[in-house]
Amino acid sequence: MAACSCPTPFLFFPALLLLLLYFSPLNQQNLTTLFSSSINPFNHSKINPHVQQVSPAPVPALAMNLMQESSTGSPVPSFEFSPTTVTDTRIKKGSLDKIEEGLARARAAILQAVRSHNCTTLTEDEFIPRGSIYRNPFAFHQSHIEMEKRFKVWVYKEGEPPLVHDGPLNNIYSTEGQFIDEMDNGHSPFLARHPDEAHAFFLPLSVVNVVRFIYKPVTSYARDRLQHVVEDYIGVISSKYPYWNISQGADHFMVSCHDWAPDVSDANPELFKHFIRVLCNANITEGFRPGIDASLPEINTPFGTLGQPNFGQAPHKRTLLAFFAGGAHGYIRRVLLQQWKDKDKDVQVHEYLPKEYLPKGMNYTRLMGQSKFCLCPSGYEVASPRIVEAIYAGCVPAIISDNYWLPFSDVLDWSQFSVQIPVEKIPEIKTILQGISQDKYLKMQKKVRRVQRHFVLNRPAQRFDVIHMILHSVWLRRLNLRLPLMVS
Ligand SMILES: *[C@@H]1O[C@H](CO)[C@@H](O)[C@H](O)[C@H]1NC(C)=O
Ligand SMILES: *[C@@H]1O[C@H](CO)[C@@H](O)[C@H](O)[C@H]1NC(C)=O
Ligand SMILES: *[C@@H]1O[C@H](CO)[C@@H](O)[C@H](O)[C@H]1NC(C)=O
Ligand SMILES: *[C@@H]1O[C@H](CO)[C@@H](O)[C@H](O)[C@H]1NC(C)=O
Ligand SMILES: *[C@@H]1O[C@H](CO)[C@@H](O)[C@H](O)[C@H]1NC(C)=O
Ligand SMILES: *[C@@H]1O[C@H](CO)[C@@H](O)[C@H](O)[C@H]1NC(C)=O
Repeated sequence: MAACSCPTPFLFFPALLLLLLYFSPLNQQNLTTLFSSSINPFNHSKINPHVQQVSPAPVPALAMNLMQESSTGSPVPSFEFSPTTVTDTRIKKGSLDKIEEGLARARAAILQAVRSHNCTTLTEDEFIPRGSIYRNPFAFHQSHIEMEKRFKVWVYKEGEPPLVHDGPLNNIYSTEGQFIDEMDNGHSPFLARHPDEAHAFFLPLSVVNVVRFIYKPVTSYARDRLQHVVEDYIGVISSKYPYWNISQGADHFMVSCHDWAPDVSDANPELFKHFIRVLCNANITEGFRPGIDASLPEINTPFGTLGQPNFGQAPHKRTLLAFFAGGAHGYIRRVLLQQWKDKDKDVQVHEYLPKEYLPKGMNYTRLMGQSKFCLCPSGYEVASPRIVEAIYAGCVPAIISDNYWLPFSDVLDWSQFSVQIPVEKIPEIKTILQGISQDKYLKMQKKVRRVQRHFVLNRPAQRFDVIHMILHSVWLRRLNLRLPLMVS
């Protein structure tokens, strides 16, 4: 047993209060209000979060490419469920009680850790989350320990690849396919052996693959076909097994990085009322619900690699104030390029990397590693793979977005290791970033390095990595739930 040196408690008092806010419902009857939206540090509160979007979002270029690619010939896979096996609608007597008992113990242990600031670890070299990058490092540490000890996920077996049990392992949608693959390949320690012992139920559907294979040939971008696939799937599992009905879907989840994923629930909001959607496109104005849904980071994984961090230059060797290179996707980037494209040597904004860089061996990754701040504007949707790329490169993300609910923000305090620039302040980027003192910048940069491990993709998953963080988001939501639901 090794004890870590706990930081002086009063130093953490403001953070702790905030975190206690986050965790306070753990000891209350109603656990659904865990995530108070009023403490979103990046709330510019311009748009009413309750307004649901009605008009369809523009079709993103990548989705178009995928669809074009898929219209070139390979046979349309039919969406068929595997033959009906024995339907068991009973849930073993007492198994739900046992699950709830375990969850109650986990809640108690987390609260105890928060009160006592317990940071005792079982082994010497164990990673201990601490410091201001966490909303509450003590709660998170204990919660992660409890998750590893107890959390069991049932992965539904119904459905056939490629729509189910398959997904993209690289490109910007990789977190979707990698998570499906990790949970579906039979080796994860989080897998339940029987659904009766599961705390959460995973629908291993890939929205990317549905869009790719069902919208073919492309006759319409209407979301109805996507919605039918997901609703059919829920129809099958909720008639075959009792679990969906017991929780009304509140302990069921899906994970998707596709821009269209939030639309799965538009046609039947009642069905998805409690369902956990883990989404890259965590756009509050498009119906993302921070207390129920969870925000998934977008990670652009090149073919055959898992995108390990490259740390970039040491902070004092970073010669650029800010850097961005990318297409004019979406309204935010258009404003950015209009204002800054190829205009300033400190704030380098390019649509394409200038040709003169190439002979010098300069590329996107190296330029990120030479910049203090990396501009991460939203593109066709709120999420951008640049945020994780910046974190990998040790570059402080300067996030330019509207109503984006940042990944893992129930655990991580993004204001400590990123800068948030509202869209209307794009003309002031240079002033804002120059206004950050060297001292403050160095602190933020150090925190960027510290937060890296939570965005690293490992297969198989490792403690505190991005897959564990995704699982933890679901675990936290399950902790907030007590079953069976009281029907009002
Ligand atoms: C629990 O929270 C829900 C959602 O905020 C609310 O509608 C409900 O009235 C609350 N129930 C209790 C018992 O406080
Ligand atoms: C933003 O803040 C406003 C007022 O401070 C609050 O009413 C609103 O619910 C918040 N929205 C989000 C998405 O956090
Ligand atoms: C602190 O945490 C360790 C390891 O999780 C546990 O064994 C110990 O009982 C805890 N102590 C208190 C006072 O909660
Ligand atoms: C779940 O509820 C639906 C709708 O009420 C019903 O059709 C279905 O048979 C139920 N499932 C089970 C397993 O009882
Ligand atoms: C960028 O340059 C670095 C160092 O020269 C190299 O290691 C890396 O593979 C390059 N990345 C790309 C995407 O070309
Ligand atoms: C977020 O959703 C709103 C409402 O649909 C939309 O107008 C906006 O463009 C979206 N944001 C991004 C960056 O796509």
